[in-house]
Amino acid sequence: MKANVSGNGTRVGIAGVGVYVPERVLTNAELERMVDTSDEWITDRTGIKERRIAAEDEAASDMALPAARQALESAGVDAGELDMVIVATSTPDMLFPATATVVAEQLGANRAAAYDLLAACSGFIYGLSQAYGSVSSGVSRKVLVIGSEALSKIVNWEDRGTCILFGDGAGAVVVEAVDGGGFLGFELGADGSGGGDLCIAAGGSRNPTTEQTVADELHLIQMRGPEVFRFATRVMVSSAAGLLEECGAAVDDVDLYVPHQANKRIIDHAARNLGLPPEKIFLNIHRYGNTSAASIPIALAEAVAEGALTAGKRVLMTAVGGGFTWGSVYMTWSEGRA
Ligand code: COA
Repeated sequence: MKANVSGNGTRVGIAGVGVYVPERVLTNAELERMVDTSDEWITDRTGIKERRIAAEDEAASDMALPAARQALESAGVDAGELDMVIVATSTPDMLFPATATVVAEQLGANRAAAYDLLAACSGFIYGLSQAYGSVSSGVSRKVLVIGSEALSKIVNWEDRGTCILFGDGAGAVVVEAVDGGGFLGFELGADGSGGGDLCIAAGGSRNPTTEQTVADELHLIQMRGPEVFRFATRVMVSSAAGLLEECGAAVDDVDLYVPHQANKRIIDHAARNLGLPPEKIFLNIHRYGNTSAASIPIALAEAVAEGALTAGKRVLMTAVGGGFTWGSVYMTWSEGRA
């Protein structure tokens, strides 16, 4: 789906951002001692130098909470005012109840509907589109969208093709009516034919957990890296270009490109093909690796903190992930609440 929403009556935007990353840093040097790899290979092939790892007792909701509290504070919104809490995650605390219900309860968001959204690395972008739809239609006034991932808990630490890529963390935003700027358009899609290229094969209703599925390590991430790489490079470009065209915007109109931080080579390829110069790209992959649904909200919060994202700037975000799923958002950063 693709939509230019700039002509819709209500301006809806992001009124506050928040971030949390776990304390523990796992460097490439440490990974060299765990699997047959090297800092040079990881840096060359992915751009990643280190990533954060959740503590043993730290789950997705534990990371979502501080990020959410920071987003609410920066938006000046009380948890009790929230109408909806969406947690985009592939690593929920448990299959159900939804992690969002845990977060809503701990925040004191006692009026809010709360649910998890599973669209892998594209989950946060999907969540923004749902929040936009809910606020612009009048169903909700204030929606908290969180991306939170504890990927270290589902990574196979003996598989050098995947364990070097992923990291943990959370980012959150408050979506509501704003008096300037706001969302301009969305492009979202899915192609289930690539589902097997990046998946956790067991633990669901297709292959319930058994001793055998655990012995076969089917409860951990499996990935065909080159296939995912090919798909991602193509869709990061087509999704963003299609959205800009739908919005009647040129690449030069974009002030800041905040891509999903999956692999620096994928980001560089997308930026080059879109015609975005390096100074417009927000990058933090070297510090966090791929944090899936948390990657873009973490980047947004850091971009705001660094002064790279200020009112009036046009932001383009694109994510691609397991499913395959993908999504882009184009928006003008907001000045404040309506
Ligand atoms: N260290 C050293 N060598 C490694 C390695 C590692 N961590 N991981 C793989 N290799 C080796 C492979 O075994 C292979 O060796 P061989 O040629 O002797 O068989 C060689 O490097 C090339 O492997 P390949 O998988 O083709 O590498 P690649 O250039 O495609 O890079 C990825 C691997 C994972 C970095 C890359 O495919 C990728 O980023 N894919 C997309 C992943 C992604 O973004 N997933 C999330 C999507 S949201």
